[in-house]
Amino acid sequence: MSALGPFYGIGVGPGESGLIPVAAIAALRAADVIFTPRAAHVTESLARQCLGDLALPPSRFREVSFRMQPDRSLLGDQYLTLAQTLSDELRAGRTVAYLTIGDPLTYSTYGYLLATLRDFEPALRYRTFPGITSFAATAAALSWPLGEGKERILILPCPDDLDALKQDIDTHDVVILMKIGKRLPRVLDLLARLELLEHCAFGHRVGLDGELLCAHLSDLQPTGMTGYLSTLLIRRERPSR
Ligand SMILES: C[S@@+](CC[C@H](N)C(=O)[O-])C[C@H]1O[C@@H](n2cnc3c(N)ncnc32)[C@H](O)[C@@H]1O
Repeated sequence: MSALGPFYGIGVGPGESGLIPVAAIAALRAADVIFTPRAAHVTESLARQCLGDLALPPSRFREVSFRMQPDRSLLGDQYLTLAQTLSDELRAGRTVAYLTIGDPLTYSTYGYLLATLRDFEPALRYRTFPGITSFAATAAALSWPLGEGKERILILPCPDDLDALKQDIDTHDVVILMKIGKRLPRVLDLLARLELLEHCAFGHRVGLDGELLCAHLSDLQPTGMTGYLSTLLIRRERPSR
């Protein structure tokens, strides 16, 4: 059996269009079908929005809708169905690309998709193009150095247990907090108690409409949605300059 593919995993954005490697653009132009994920509760694929206009024929794009599932096994079912669809396209001799937000292998469901597709098609030829993580985009937007010298950085999805978060802050120079959501007010209370608000920074919807950038957390007035699509950069000690 001849090897199938190629299949390309491509990270775009996050946020403003144009943040995509030149090599990934070449792969996109070569793709017959470009899959773009869309959360079921929104009207437009964020990945497609971040791609911007590369003058690719609209007929090549195929949107896939996803329901957010707290139950991982149900999420797995959605990826099984999608992997089957991708496999059908590849078996028909087509080159397939899949867009995702930021870096495809950083807290991204692309990892499940690729693993499932490789189970289906062990001879698959594929390439994953690295993307710009949301914390790199947030740090750049705020000119906030992520790590200097021998500083230790921890990247963390926000825990429910804020004692655990306090311990992580105590044991690292910099903590990057993702997937904050409704926990934001409690996290801000903790940072206020630790007297860290002045040397932490926050980005919400970086590069997108409704962007909110805060170089000092004491300026932040969160509303119900501020914690979503947001990244918090926490520094334990005041920066030296
Ligand atoms: C499912 S993860 C995707 C991570 C992505 N693959 C990356 O490389 O950063 C979603 C989380 O990424 C962060 N994020 C994604 N887009 C963002 C943006 N435009 N501004 C700020 N944070 C963002 C938020 O922490 C959000 O909860």
